Amino acid sequence: MTDKIQALINQLTLEEKAALSIGATPWQTLPVERLGLAPIIVSDGPHGVRRAVDPTALITESFPATCFPVAVALASTWNKELIYELGQALADECIVLDVDVLLGPGINIKRSPLCGRNFEYFSEDPLLAGELSASLIQGVQSKGVGTSLKHYAVNNQETLRFTINAVVDERTLREIYLAGFEIAVKQGKPWTVMCAYNRVNGDFCSEHSYLLTTILRDQWGYEGFVVSDWGAVRNRIAALRAGLDLQMPGPVPHSLQAVINAVKDGTLDESILNRTVDRLLKVILRAKETPKGHGTIDIDAHHGLAQRIASESIVLLKNDNNLLPLTGNETLAVIGQAATEPVYQGGGSSHIKATRVDKPLDLLQNRAELRYVVGDGYAFEVNQNHIDEAVTVAQSADAALLFIALPARIESEGYDRRDLNLTPHQTALIQAVAAVQPRTVVILNNGSAIDMRPWIDTVPAVLEAWLPGQAGAGAVIDVLYGTVNPSGKLTETFPLRLSDTPAYLNFPGENGEVRYGEGIFVGYRGYEARNLDVLFPFGHGLSYTQFDYSSLRVSNRFFTIDETLEVTVEITNSGQCAGQETVQLYIHDAASRLQRPPKELKAFAKVALEPGQSKRVAFTLDSRAFSYYDPAYGRWLAEAGDFEILAGSSSAAIHLRETVTLTSGTPLPSRLNLESTIGDWLDDAHGAALVQPLVQLMGGGNESASAGDALGVDMLTFFRDLPLTVMLNFQADALNVTPEQMVASMLEQVRIAAAH
Ligand code: BGC
Repeated sequence: MTDKIQALINQLTLEEKAALSIGATPWQTLPVERLGLAPIIVSDGPHGVRRAVDPTALITESFPATCFPVAVALASTWNKELIYELGQALADECIVLDVDVLLGPGINIKRSPLCGRNFEYFSEDPLLAGELSASLIQGVQSKGVGTSLKHYAVNNQETLRFTINAVVDERTLREIYLAGFEIAVKQGKPWTVMCAYNRVNGDFCSEHSYLLTTILRDQWGYEGFVVSDWGAVRNRIAALRAGLDLQMPGPVPHSLQAVINAVKDGTLDESILNRTVDRLLKVILRAKETPKGHGTIDIDAHHGLAQRIASESIVLLKNDNNLLPLTGNETLAVIGQAATEPVYQGGGSSHIKATRVDKPLDLLQNRAELRYVVGDGYAFEVNQNHIDEAVTVAQSADAALLFIALPARIESEGYDRRDLNLTPHQTALIQAVAAVQPRTVVILNNGSAIDMRPWIDTVPAVLEAWLPGQAGAGAVIDVLYGTVNPSGKLTETFPLRLSDTPAYLNFPGENGEVRYGEGIFVGYRGYEARNLDVLFPFGHGLSYTQFDYSSLRVSNRFFTIDETLEVTVEITNSGQCAGQETVQLYIHDAASRLQRPPKELKAFAKVALEPGQSKRVAFTLDSRAFSYYDPAYGRWLAEAGDFEILAGSSSAAIHLRETVTLTSGTPLPSRLNLESTIGDWLDDAHGAALVQPLVQLMGGGNESASAGDALGVDMLTFFRDLPLTVMLNFQADALNVTPEQMVASMLEQVRIAAAH
């Protein structure tokens, strides 16, 4: 605690300290004028600044701001530098709009494509979500504006989001649902973290001391403050104790009174309140070092940046016979309401009042001779008239552009999707147009995977344009005409069917509880482990040029747990135009004590290459890259043995592989105890030698195959699950001590051997 903060805390009254820990308004902290303490203003977030015109009102008009591409699009760029640049631009707008903390990024794992809020999240992969969001955080905060990493944690659905209890095992929690937060916290150092609404293993996140204090602060070293999601606090005292610093929105008179009373009657130690005030003041004073509320937004420059990001985010899913890019000489049938009324962002708290919005049809007017029909009119039920009109224009043009956007009433904050389908009308429309026009391009606007089986085989080209922000139209057109070579890649798997998705049987739960039964097998980890074909794999995205992968090199084939491994791969642009490729590095653990997914992403890099150019891309893998979280030891550990290093252009397209050997794993204490089985003893580095003679004695050795024959079993396998003490009981008459005494003395020998 600095002297200045200590002095402030000393001067604040109990009432003021309690009031500081609760919003003074829905978007502001408490000002304490007599001490010169200004309030900070927080604002949604995340892909633009939704600054309330009246910050004393919860739901109100917001000032115009640039609507940048939403998180799913941002992530699809796989471009950390670009995301950092976006962070800086967001901060510039925060400074103009007088915002101290931007409420984002949101990085919850896309456990199921049905989650209504997937558009606001980065990926099904925690490393990717963590690394990309850390860049965003660093970009924003480099300018003296804070961020709020949200929603911590295990908030992977909208159904019953205020109450649902997510039941998740420790390993899955650490490896899948917390790993991204861990990276973002350690690398990005967000000024604030926002706790989620839901419960995790029984406790509300707002009252979860294991999440908010043990893991976040004690294990990850987090130093900022924790803010509640809006309305997530139930019991203010329990939340304070657990490590929840700021309750939002405010004011909440009954919470305020409860805190004051609890300190006065001794049920809440004042030092806990002081600790919270200390954390709040650190961020408040830091925020106030950067003056805000002046200048103007550079609308044109930020619109341009929004377009640049959008154009890197578009994923060319399919491009048969190089239908794209267009030549520029075609007459075009333009079909779909999204061409005139684009769906460029999602619904809910992230909704930005854009400074302007480009429309595909307007921009296409200058590029080609067009015939436009509304086509879908965002209708749900099949409208044959619209389809007939679309077929007529499609037949009369050289190519058809179908602009298909999933209506916001299907995908939004606040509720989940029921299926992966487009509307029945949209499906029928695509089928009808593709049947008459072989040069059909489908351009999609949606926030998460959709089922394309009814039409994908008949449509030669598909652009996944996501919710691309206010300048998305220009980005789509740049990609259609090849002004921009597409380089976006999927950060989530597009499955063939909903029933293939790993969480299918456990989503969204029942009786107020959702069981994360698929464990660590989320996204590509799950599809690959079950050998399921998918529509488009994680990491997939085409280009107008060709990239060749060659000469994977590792710094050493054999390495120890204390060494890092350098991996390099050569990438060559062997096609005709400049482009960017995202190289993905996965590892595969050849054998491990606990189940591991066939592949885990461990590093990635995006490189720009001129035609004919080659670059060597370098990655560094440390011991964590080879580790899993073992709940039995309560820690990350790596086992000695072989690992494959896989370099690819998607999780399914692995071009190069190399085996490396970890010669020494994480040193671990013996876990043998009185209940340990013969198998446990045989697997223990020091226990095996001690138990081997006893096993021989019991007929588990080679020379006593006859004992096995007598029972018709393989004796060693038969014994593996037998506790050593139980086995010794069968021989009790040959022992001069009890089995427990004997095992106790063996345990002591193991302890001594391990200490040397
Ligand atoms: C959302 C948060 C958002 C907050 C403030 C909540 O409903 O879950 O993401 O930052 O509202 O608008």
